[in-house]
Amino acid sequence: MAFDNISSIDTLSSKIGQSASIAGWVYNSRSSGKIQFIVIRDGTGLCQCVAEKGRLPDELFEQIKHLGQESSLAVTGDLRADERSPGGVELAITDAQIIHPTADYPITPKSHGIDFLLRHRHLHLRSRRQWAINRVRHTVIDAVRRFFNDNGFTLIDTPIITPVAGEEAASLFELDYYGQAMHLTQTGQLYLEAAALSHGKVYCFGPTFRAEKSKTRRHLTEFWMVEPEVAFTDLPGLLELSENFVWRIVADVLEKNRAELEILEADIEVLEKIKPPFYRLTYTEAVDILTGDKAQQFLAEQLARLNSRKDQVEKKITELEAQQSQSMKKWKADKIAAELIELRGELAELEQKIENNPVHAKLAAEFQWGKDLGGSDETIISSMHDKPVFITHYPRQAKAFYMKKCPENEQVVENFDLIAPAGFGEIIGGSMREDDYETLLERINEHSLNPDNYSWYLDLRKYGSVPHGGFGLGIERTVAWLTGERHIRQCIPFPRMLDKVYI
Ligand code: 4AD
Repeated sequence: MAFDNISSIDTLSSKIGQSASIAGWVYNSRSSGKIQFIVIRDGTGLCQCVAEKGRLPDELFEQIKHLGQESSLAVTGDLRADERSPGGVELAITDAQIIHPTADYPITPKSHGIDFLLRHRHLHLRSRRQWAINRVRHTVIDAVRRFFNDNGFTLIDTPIITPVAGEEAASLFELDYYGQAMHLTQTGQLYLEAAALSHGKVYCFGPTFRAEKSKTRRHLTEFWMVEPEVAFTDLPGLLELSENFVWRIVADVLEKNRAELEILEADIEVLEKIKPPFYRLTYTEAVDILTGDKAQQFLAEQLARLNSRKDQVEKKITELEAQQSQSMKKWKADKIAAELIELRGELAELEQKIENNPVHAKLAAEFQWGKDLGGSDETIISSMHDKPVFITHYPRQAKAFYMKKCPENEQVVENFDLIAPAGFGEIIGGSMREDDYETLLERINEHSLNPDNYSWYLDLRKYGSVPHGGFGLGIERTVAWLTGERHIRQCIPFPRMLDKVYI
């Protein structure tokens, strides 16, 4: 069989009544007497194919019948509409070419622990969930590029190896560069500022490295960040740019990835409400919310919801465990085992949240003005809102050296974080940049940075300095929010986490 006649599965619904060939992998297979049903996946969708004894040479029928999960093959057959088939089309096989029969594929439909799956990431990428997440990620990245390209931004590639620290020195990955100390980039921003004074509106997009000490579901050591930088702007201008940008990403995902969002059981209705204007709070207002009655009441209600869900999950686990002790068909036993792994995972997560709830309540109640907002503080604010929330004007002492001091209140800087709703936390960090030479030099010294390393950066404040600013959006956190995936390690194909690189 030549492969030039192959149709992709997502085009089959327009070919009902015709003959077509598809090529892919066995997603699952079951037999019903003289009929073998095999669901084939080809990267664009799933198609149920039917092999009927008598319609095919006996030898071929037997081969098809014994194909294991993930065997590769090409099949030709007649297409007919069938509501029970995953894509609404069923293919009645008239010919087949087995390309690579496979036995004992390690990832079976019964669930596996996360450690096992991460060690088998090269295969787990084929799973339905990983497939759907990576398709959404693709749309997010495409939307990012389109948004900036359509709005007059020039792409500038900033270096990955750099002598300057853009963010906290504690999260630098050191590198011995021919005997000279360098590190991997934490942000392209400083270089982008130079380019913004050439082009006006620029962006960079690439891998970013942080030797994070935090082992949380929101931190990776290698992640992808897109950063725009704009000359002649102000803080309200940056907020407006951010909300239009995020809106475009959400709209594109809703338009192009509905099927994937359904597979992931993401809350489509909630995403449909994500339209500007987003909420705007100052840091001081956010602190008032955290330390006030509303947050405590919210946390108490949340605790009640968690406990009630925990009861339900425990009850279901007991029921399934009782069923497990009875004899049953293998597929049913596998289904129950898979469900139990899911439920036990959810139970562990619920127990963790129940344990954290009073800790977070105490941290919020005792929050002191001046500290940076922590992950739990962001989660509380984020859970209390149905749309993203901008938090602006953080205390100067809690933020990076380059952020512009607020002319009306020198205790705070002109910066913002954008917090995604429903507990997903920060997806964007941005600010106006200090554009005054003397003030910036002071800040570099206050942060114990070596001014020699920043002489070129300071130069930008010597020659035609202008008000300018920008922000960075983390791709994985955005994908996690849109797909409802709790852990961002699932939102990058090959994750790198604290102390742990699997493959
Ligand atoms: O707030 P951050 O640190 O901002 C900057 O790096 C600025 N220089 C950006 C700029 O103004 N040009 O990071 C921006 C975003 C965060 O909101 C988050 O989405 C993501 O980058 N991020 C991480 N994502 C995954 N793992 C980590 N360890 C991350 N650290 C930041």
